[in-house]
Amino acid sequence: MMSTQGDEAEPVPTTNELRVPPREAWYCVRSAGLLPQGAMEAVTLLGEQIVIGRRRDLRLFALRDRCPHRGAPLSEGSFDGSAVTCPFHGWRFGADGRCRAMPTLVDDDPTDPTTVRVASFPISESDGNIWVYAGANPADAPPVPSLSVNGKQRCRVAVSVLVEASYDLCVLSLIDPGHVGYVHNSWWWRPTATAREKVKDFDPLPFGFRMKAHRAAANSRGYRLLGRPQTEVDFLLPGQRIERIRMGERSIVNATFATPVDARHTLLTNILLSDLPQLALLRRPVGWAARAFLRQDQRILELAQQGLDRKPTMLLMGQADRLAQWYFRLKRDYAAARREGIAFRNVIAPERLRWRT
Ligand code: FES
Ligand SMILES: [Fe+2]
Repeated sequence: MMSTQGDEAEPVPTTNELRVPPREAWYCVRSAGLLPQGAMEAVTLLGEQIVIGRRRDLRLFALRDRCPHRGAPLSEGSFDGSAVTCPFHGWRFGADGRCRAMPTLVDDDPTDPTTVRVASFPISESDGNIWVYAGANPADAPPVPSLSVNGKQRCRVAVSVLVEASYDLCVLSLIDPGHVGYVHNSWWWRPTATAREKVKDFDPLPFGFRMKAHRAAANSRGYRLLGRPQTEVDFLLPGQRIERIRMGERSIVNATFATPVDARHTLLTNILLSDLPQLALLRRPVGWAARAFLRQDQRILELAQQGLDRKPTMLLMGQADRLAQWYFRLKRDYAAARREGIAFRNVIAPERLRWRT
């Protein structure tokens, strides 16, 4: 990643490893309310069809959504809160993926159904979001983030938009100060004409970096409505932006997660949690604004992806693109650490960055 002067000079190297989302990572696959007992749902993560469900004992499970018999999707079958029945020939699988029964077998058939297994995935639930681990070993991976607010939660808004763009392009939009005044230049957020110089201090985190607490931008109407509170923004691998806005004892946590659905599609999920009593009544307008925001990103990301399809290179220029450089650095070092089986070490140093937005 380097500064270059023109489109033809020294483009950012985009080897395949750089472009692929990390597999050894937790991804948010569901944010829309509680998955009820006995329910199951199909999700796609990294091109893999997965069925998630909640058992009668409230525990979650995630299995490959493909029956080993003839490939039918288990998510199209039935689930009694303990076992999934395949819709094709009725093989039954426990939540651990082990086959329990094959209805065609006669009593003295020596075939042992329990030798058949569907792959299972680690699954976790936090703040009403469901996370699936796509790789082999979650022990050394960035943990599922905690979004909790201090007081009683009064407001939870979750919106998701499926974007037809690569994972990297979508993750960069979470840490891209330069696009805000152009893509999100609505009257209710930040009109383009109001750009001014910003100075931000950054510190490394175990799996990312933090924009240290500062007073929110004066040229954002949204922040002005909240009385220009203190805000702090974390970026964490594999692709999470978590903003904590503090107003005295109360806070708003505004998180965006990128989930790689397949090579061409990325799910962007925005979660807003707060203990502010005023926000309890504003859930609808907040949801509307969050969706409008994501749609603005979706539109430009899909257009930019078409440009990258024609020529898959980007330029990273100036201090506003330093965060994008850090992302690629973190991702590359994390992939190397996992490949070599060593502990990941973040080499990003504290830095003050300046830009106009
Ligand atoms: S395909 Fe699932 S039981 Fe036959
Ligand atoms: Fe954006």
